[in-house]
Amino acid sequence: MQLKNRELLRTQAYVDGAWIDAGTGAVVQVRNPATGAVVAEAACCGAAETRRAIRAAERAQADWSRRAAKERGDALRRMFEAMLASQEDLACILTAEQGKPLAEARVEIAYGASYFEWFAEEAKRIYGDTIPAPGADKRIVTIKQPVGVVACITPWNFPNAMLARKIAPALAAGCSVVCKPATSTPLSALAIAALAEKAGIPAGVVNVVAGDTRAIGAELTRHPAVRKLAFTGSTAVGKELIRACAGTVKRVSMELGGNAPFIVFDDADLESAVQGALVCKYRNAGQTCVSANRILVQSGIFDAFASRFAEAAGALKLGNGMDEGTAMGPLIDAPAARGVREMVEEALAEGATLLTEADRCAKTGAFVQPAVLADVTPRMRVCQEEIFGPVAPLLRFETESEAIRLANDTPYGLAAYFYARDVGRICRVGEGLEFGIVGINEGIISNAAAPFGGVKESGNGREGSKYGLDDYLEIKYLCLGGIQ
Ligand code: SIN
Repeated sequence: MQLKNRELLRTQAYVDGAWIDAGTGAVVQVRNPATGAVVAEAACCGAAETRRAIRAAERAQADWSRRAAKERGDALRRMFEAMLASQEDLACILTAEQGKPLAEARVEIAYGASYFEWFAEEAKRIYGDTIPAPGADKRIVTIKQPVGVVACITPWNFPNAMLARKIAPALAAGCSVVCKPATSTPLSALAIAALAEKAGIPAGVVNVVAGDTRAIGAELTRHPAVRKLAFTGSTAVGKELIRACAGTVKRVSMELGGNAPFIVFDDADLESAVQGALVCKYRNAGQTCVSANRILVQSGIFDAFASRFAEAAGALKLGNGMDEGTAMGPLIDAPAARGVREMVEEALAEGATLLTEADRCAKTGAFVQPAVLADVTPRMRVCQEEIFGPVAPLLRFETESEAIRLANDTPYGLAAYFYARDVGRICRVGEGLEFGIVGINEGIISNAAAPFGGVKESGNGREGSKYGLDDYLEIKYLCLGGIQ
């Protein structure tokens, strides 16, 4: 890795403003998914380091929450500026540990930084209310106060942005954080901690412990000083964490799995639907919770869409994310790639047809070629489960109500997309889709100004936007009596 600032490449945990090794001396190897090469060895923390981080966060939170909102906002602003100033180095670290093309990694850093910018401003807008009281001798006032210590558990698919969009609102609200990044991608999180240190965020306000997922997760969910857990990851793990948090009745916000329908109606603009589907499906090699998972196409436009889309998907250049011109990188590791290939093979065995070239990639590596499948049925596993890979199953439908029914026929409810031009249809379908986010004639819906989150088994809470602070705040009601 060619970094301008080597200080961003940290391998120790960041606890109470200090860089520490795991007490046991254990390390975890971080590998580049494109080559399998070891990029770094990071401290493999466990329960002891996590407890230390929680205690530090608890101590630091009391002082942090008393600072003026403007002071917290200014610190977040410094984080935003520092992230952008280090964009190239942070992108390089991200690509090395996660595999996505460098151009996409740069976009992720800007996306992550935008949450610091957004919440730097929102920190100053934590308003309360005065409420007309039922008696003339009373006054009712509400104030908003930080929840307390927040545990942030984040995934490997967006190792920078998913953490940024938890740390930024937490700090804006006056909370402190103990962060547990995915074991395969700890370096981006540790780099954020290095920037927090440089930005003058007080010791203990931001802590990062990577390592033993079970041990760290158990401590974070059990410890009474942790008052909230913010998690992005699979629905299965989210359910486990919710159960584990029940013992101490923690607040939870869960950004879980998705099974996004991407609907193309007959009246859609064909070329923009194809381009929208491409970015929505193949961003991060399909490893996003908001990736198009099932592409539903109305019969009148099916053949035209299928051939244009398959041609464009087949032309995407697969390669090492560090190489110029790579459009799509590897999946996170070889087992993930094997799982995705198995889903495709299963669909083909059940009667689906492949519209793109057969997978030319080595069957052992983490690479999976973009695939487009036709003759798919809704009961196939590629339609039922979150694929998390570059595979696009196409389903044909006839009517608008059939499309809405098929789209909603899933326990998930994170993101949905549709392409249409008829205004009445845009209103009906937008309202009829049971998802937290709906992209209309748009394949990329992520930005800091908008509320990101799902319904049903895709989770609860919203990240980003003016609503994003609410998950980190408690409303307190002050009742003033005896007023003459
Ligand atoms: C995710 O995959 O969890 C988030 C993707 C995004 O923010 O766009």
